[in-house]
Amino acid sequence: MATALILGASRGLGLEFARQYAAAGWRTLATARDDVGLQALRDAGAQAQRLDVTASADWPLLASALAAETLDLVIYNAGVFGPRGGSGSAPSDAEFDAVLHANVRGAMQALARFAPRVAARQGRLVFISSGMGSIGETSSSTGWLYRVSKAALNMAVVAGRLDHPGALCVVMNPGWVKTDMGGAGASLEVADSVRTMRATIDGLTPADNGRFVNYDGDRARWPW
Ligand SMILES: NC(=O)c1ccc[n+]([C@@H]2O[C@H](COP(=O)([O-])OP(=O)(O)OC[C@H]3O[C@@H](n4cnc5c(N)ncnc54)[C@H](OP(=O)(O)O)[C@@H]3O)[C@@H](O)[C@H]2O)c1
Repeated sequence: MATALILGASRGLGLEFARQYAAAGWRTLATARDDVGLQALRDAGAQAQRLDVTASADWPLLASALAAETLDLVIYNAGVFGPRGGSGSAPSDAEFDAVLHANVRGAMQALARFAPRVAARQGRLVFISSGMGSIGETSSSTGWLYRVSKAALNMAVVAGRLDHPGALCVVMNPGWVKTDMGGAGASLEVADSVRTMRATIDGLTPADNGRFVNYDGDRARWPW
């Protein structure tokens, strides 16, 4: 049985990834940082592990809790948006730290700790990024800090994966999705985004290593 690990999965896209992979018969390991999220994951059919992606001490604990697992797929899903505004004001220290730690440093922890184990299985690592991290498509500074964080995430993955050639690593845009982050006016239902991303993940080939892939499999839409 293949095993998936979903990081940052208490609600929204992450919880739906856990639900769908468990329903599809995968051994599904998933993380949340509080009891409510952990229970939601158990209810979704996943084996729940506690992880605050911004807490350095949590990462070695997670790695040892999962030491006996084989990992075929790791999805780094955790993310925060932070301040909605643009370049009219710089982020505060606290805003910068919160967004960059969750969106970038957590992903770097995930890649450094789990890519060797995914490579051992010739597996896949998927980092949930955003079209807002695309430098080439930027047309406003709205969500300035979030944009910066997702562009940094893209580089973290594209550079970091070079040390783990056995692992197929991509950054993926989930589309604009009706979650707490995406809001009710978003264009995609959570289940549809995740179902489509799962099919796209299934169809990844070695030629995709290091690519920015849209949820629907479009590989050309997102210039860096
Ligand atoms: N929805 C969209 O339209 C959209 C578009 C582009 C990209 N994305 C990306 O898709 C991913 C999932 O977003 P979503 O829409 O599902 O957002 P969401 O509903 O706000 O969920 C965010 C998830 O990240 C987790 N998280 C945040 N900080 C964490 C931390 N320090 N430790 C552990 N978990 C943490 C949250 O856990 P808690 O419940 O503990 O806070 C929650 O499970 C994010 O990376 C986001 O940037 C979303």
